[in-house]
This record gives sequence, C-alpha cells and structure tokens, in this order.
Amino acid sequence: MKYTVITGASSGIGYETALAFAARGKNLIIVARRLDKLEELKLKIQEINPDLDVVILTSDLSVTDQAYTLYNDLKEYQMETWINNAGLGEGAFVADQKLEKVETMLRVNIESLTILSTLYVRDYADVEGTQLINVSSALGYVIAVGSVAYSASKYYVSAFTEGLAKELELKGAKLKAKILAPAITETEFANKSIDVKEFDYKSSMPKYHTAKQMAGFMVDLYDNNEVVGIVDPNYDFNLRGPIYPILEGL
Ligand SMILES: NC(=O)c1ccc[n+]([C@@H]2O[C@H](COP(=O)([O-])OP(=O)(O)OC[C@H]3O[C@@H](n4cnc5c(N)ncnc54)[C@H](OP(=O)(O)O)[C@@H]3O)[C@@H](O)[C@H]2O)c1
Repeated sequence: MKYTVITGASSGIGYETALAFAARGKNLIIVARRLDKLEELKLKIQEINPDLDVVILTSDLSVTDQAYTLYNDLKEYQMETWINNAGLGEGAFVADQKLEKVETMLRVNIESLTILSTLYVRDYADVEGTQLINVSSALGYVIAVGSVAYSASKYYVSAFTEGLAKELELKGAKLKAKILAPAITETEFANKSIDVKEFDYKSSMPKYHTAKQMAGFMVDLYDNNEVVGIVDPNYDFNLRGPIYPILEGL
C-alpha cells in the first residue's frame, strides 16, 4: 500500500489537498496538532471513498524533536509522496513582531521542513514515482514589507527545495522535489498571521484563491514535471522551472 503524507492537513490548503488526493484514490497519512479536525477529515474522505486507508498522526512541528518522531513513526509505511504544507505567518513589521511567534514560525516553516525533507530524501531518492512537495509562497520569491520574517522563511523553503531538486537531478535520482508557491488563499492563515477572529477575504482582497482551487493547483504540480508551481501577480497559476540561480561544482 502506498501513501501520500500531508502535514498541516487540519485546515486550509492541506485539508483540501487531502480531499483532492483522496479523489485520486490515494491512501493518506494526515498530520497536524488538532486531532478533532483530522478525525473530521478522515470521515469526509471515507465518505468519498471507503476503500482508502487514512492514517492520522498528531505532531507539533514547532518542536523539532517531534519532526524526528513523526518520521520514525512512519518508517513502516511506503510513502509515495510527502507534502510539507504545515506553516504559519507573522504579519507585522520587524520591530513590532512577536518574537515567540516568530521562533515558532521558523521552527515549523524552516527547521521541521528541513528535517522531514532530509529524512524522506535519504529513504526515497531512488524510489520510482516518488515526490516531495514543499509549500512555499509567492512571498518566497518577493519580499513582503510587513511580513519580512515570514517572507524570508519562505525564501528558505524555495531556495532549499530548488537546490534539492537540482541535486536530485544531478544524481539521476528518481525522487522529484517540487515547490508550490501560493499567493493569497482563503484559509485560517490570515486570522493567525494578524491575530484576528475572522479575516474577511471578500471585502479586503481584490484577488485571492480558495483552498480548494489551491489544492487543484497542487494536483496540477503533482501531475507535471516542472519544479515550481507559482501564482503570479495576476493570480494565474504557472508551472515552470527553478527561479533562483544555481551554483554547481563547489
Ligand atoms: N493562505 C495563504 O494566503 C498562503 C499563501 C502562501 C503560502 N501559504 C502557505 O500554505 C501552507 C498552508 O497554510 P494555509 O493557508 O492552509 O493555513 P492554515 O489554514 O492556517 O493551515 C495551516 C496548517 O498548518 C498546521 N500547523 C500550524 N502550526 C503547526 C505546528 N506547530 N505543528 C503541526 N502543524 C502545524 C495547522 O494545523 P494545526 O493548527 O492543527 O496544528 C494547519 O493544518 C503554509 O505553509 C502557508 O505558509 C499560505
């Protein structure tokens, strides 16, 4: 049995991505902190397709030890695809940002993503048909004033994953590493980034995608051989090659 692992599957893009992969007949391993939301998702998936196996794992990825534990707990499964989607933002100017939240953000967005990517690459580089998809952001390619630390964390995700994709290509590995770079997407993300109860996307944002649309783009990226799937300033989704310059041969 093969599985698709999705971190941050309890809401937003991860939740909809789980439903989209379930619609494709993929068995799922869904990860987040909120068990009730994951159980609700599992029920929904089983309504779509009762034959699918859905494994729930709770993990707090702001504690990097838990990233190692998560991976070790999954060693017995055959993981065809690993999607590092869990993430959070801090929408504040640097001088005003909440440092505790920023520390948590860097551990989830950067440290746990790096640990999980590395462990997955070690085991699956030579396994046919495998993919590692890391969720960055359009702000991983343009610096957002007012969210500089978040933007920089996504620059890391993009640079790390584009570099990894190149290393895998040079080694002739079978595993593909890819980046999804969404722009504004209607999820719980804004509520948590700026600490509001219910951010009103409709009245506040001229353009945005729904989480379901973004999950559709995730599937498009999965189906394609390009490394980057990015939403452009016109809110069109583009599949393309790596964006950062690469230095080889050091
Ligand atoms: N929405 C946007 O506008 C937008 C734009 C560009 C990129 N993104 C990126 O898209 C990804 C998904 O975000 P979203 O928009 O879907 O936001 P969301 O609705 O807030 O979902 C975030 C997910 O990450 C999980 N998560 C957060 N902290 C975690 C932790 N400490 N340990 C484990 N899981 C944790 C959450 O689960 P629990 O709370 O249950 O743990 C939740 O499932 C993020 O990487 C985000 O940076 C979002």
